[in-house]
Amino acid sequence: MQAPRPMPPAMRFIPAVQEVTERSGVTVEVVPHNQNLFWAVVRTQAIEVVGQRNGVLPVHESGQKLGVLMAHIDKAIRAVRCNAAESVFCDNVLLEGHLRLPEALARMGFEVSEQFRPLVGARAAAALLRESIDDFHSELTITTDASRSWHSPLMGHGWILDYGRGSSPTINAYAATGKEILQGELNSIHYALLDASRYREDLFTGRVRFHIRSDSLMAIDLLNNPASHARSRSQAARSIVHRIHELLSRSEVRYSWVKAHAGDPMNELADRLALVARRCYAADITAGVRHGRTLGGPIALQVRNRDFANWEERMNPWPVDAQTAEVHLPRPGHADLVGTQKYGLSDVRDILERASARETAARVAGGAVAKAFLSALGVGVFSHVIQITGVTAPRRDDLTPEDFAAVDESPVRCLDEEAGRAMVAEINRLRKANESLGGVFEVRAFGLVPGLGSHVSWRERLDGVLGQAVMSIQAVKGAAVGDAIEVAGLPGSKAHDEIFYDDERGFYRQTNRAGGLEGGMTTGDPLVVRGYMKPLPTLTKPLRSVDIATHEPAEALRERTDSCTVPAAGVVGEAMVAFVLAAAYRRKFGGDHISDVTAALDAYRARIGWQRR
Ligand SMILES: Cc1cc2nc3c(=O)[nH]c(=O)nc-3n(C[C@H](O)[C@H](O)[C@H](O)COP(=O)(O)O)c2cc1C
Repeated sequence: MQAPRPMPPAMRFIPAVQEVTERSGVTVEVVPHNQNLFWAVVRTQAIEVVGQRNGVLPVHESGQKLGVLMAHIDKAIRAVRCNAAESVFCDNVLLEGHLRLPEALARMGFEVSEQFRPLVGARAAAALLRESIDDFHSELTITTDASRSWHSPLMGHGWILDYGRGSSPTINAYAATGKEILQGELNSIHYALLDASRYREDLFTGRVRFHIRSDSLMAIDLLNNPASHARSRSQAARSIVHRIHELLSRSEVRYSWVKAHAGDPMNELADRLALVARRCYAADITAGVRHGRTLGGPIALQVRNRDFANWEERMNPWPVDAQTAEVHLPRPGHADLVGTQKYGLSDVRDILERASARETAARVAGGAVAKAFLSALGVGVFSHVIQITGVTAPRRDDLTPEDFAAVDESPVRCLDEEAGRAMVAEINRLRKANESLGGVFEVRAFGLVPGLGSHVSWRERLDGVLGQAVMSIQAVKGAAVGDAIEVAGLPGSKAHDEIFYDDERGFYRQTNRAGGLEGGMTTGDPLVVRGYMKPLPTLTKPLRSVDIATHEPAEALRERTDSCTVPAAGVVGEAMVAFVLAAAYRRKFGGDHISDVTAALDAYRARIGWQRR
């Protein structure tokens, strides 16, 4: 299961900044590598200084950095003024010691106007940001830790990104499958580096020095002594080390060991984050399982929404005293408008919360049970991303289950490293242009027996059932089995999979254009199902819509949103395909105990002479 990632703190500033931007009429230039915490803090301050009307610069936020900030403003404004005819705009902002900003700037020798001049303000802010970032982000200290449990297939990873110099550290956590602790500790470092690069594009260009701290002596030893890689027994650990070294190949790096549970605050925090990540991302089993065995009754799984605490008033099942504002701005492409019409509601929130794909967390949890059942029958279900907007991964017809072992290590769950990098770059490019992105994921199931599903009725055709399951995922607007889209444009001689026979293999095919299904039944070749996802409907630069209360033209609702969720949708697709296949096995082979199922399966395999596993 791929866990949702918490929103980085810097992102939370974006709506606030947008609001200030709108109120002041400034179009603030967003510099690509500004997506990090310090950027957000300084930007907030800078925009308050430059754009806020009648505001007070909060002293507790500026703290000792005020002097530095003023020096930067001074420099930035001077630079901008060389090219701009306008005088410096300054609001009535109060600084420490009750000095007003206009007075402070006047003392610095600026010609100050209290009438707003967007150009100078915006340019000054942008220049200020650029300079501040490079200056502040020269050294990044990363402290990481991993947490495992023998009772859970998940390993938790926690990390702290700290640029020091008075900036607030960024914390993050993640959970992924894993048991081997050395790999886990190394993965924590790898995840932390990838996370850090989301806030700053030029992170690995050599401008930033890294200090990486872990309480795993073995991980630090492996990272410090590449020669000892050869001695490491774990191929997987060696390959993570290789990936870390590759990322940091142009940077100055120091690895250091920190003693665990010995009072180092960053280590303690990373330890807690890893533990919480492991516990939070796992589902609680509340019924149907005893001492690790299913009981035959329904299995109940509970996945907690950790953000609910922030929504308790707005989404409380009971009346609340607080006034909760209704939402009246439906988003094109979402369920908002038609949902309110259908159910006779005036508040779009009544629709959007249920329409949201967050319910798919439960599908993924349930899918894990289906996958466990299938794995007992020799079936593995996997997914990966093959396209994000116009960026496609090279076609691979030869994939095996082993190829998917490290798919979660790609931030976009793409099996091709180069394409994965191009996808990340495309997401970053379009995200910054306030766009959302769609794409294509592919689910593959290996080890299937021929004859699941049936041609005898439309309800039993497996392609129809799979289409329904995959297209029930939010924003998935198309599903294809095998090369469906491509073969529609080909003549019949190039569209089908010719049949061969030899004594050892029985019936076989050399191609799998049909994606493992013929006549609504599995052929025994890998099942290949693709889901085509539209770009997400919530846009940071909203589309045109209409206020459902006033019927006046308005911009669509701006809600917290991701810009691309094709990788997550692939994980949901994997769960949905697992449900369908598990149901097909149950239907065909019945049984009350797993040995009943395998006995029926073996008898069937013997009858049709099916030897492949
Ligand atoms: C895993 C996943 C995450 C999603 N996250 C978002 C999101 O952050 N913002 C958004 O606008 N839509 C998101 N969507 C899509 C909407 O839920 C979907 O477009 C909406 O429910 C309307 O359904 P429809 O697109 O199938 O018509 C997500 C979909 C999936 C599968």
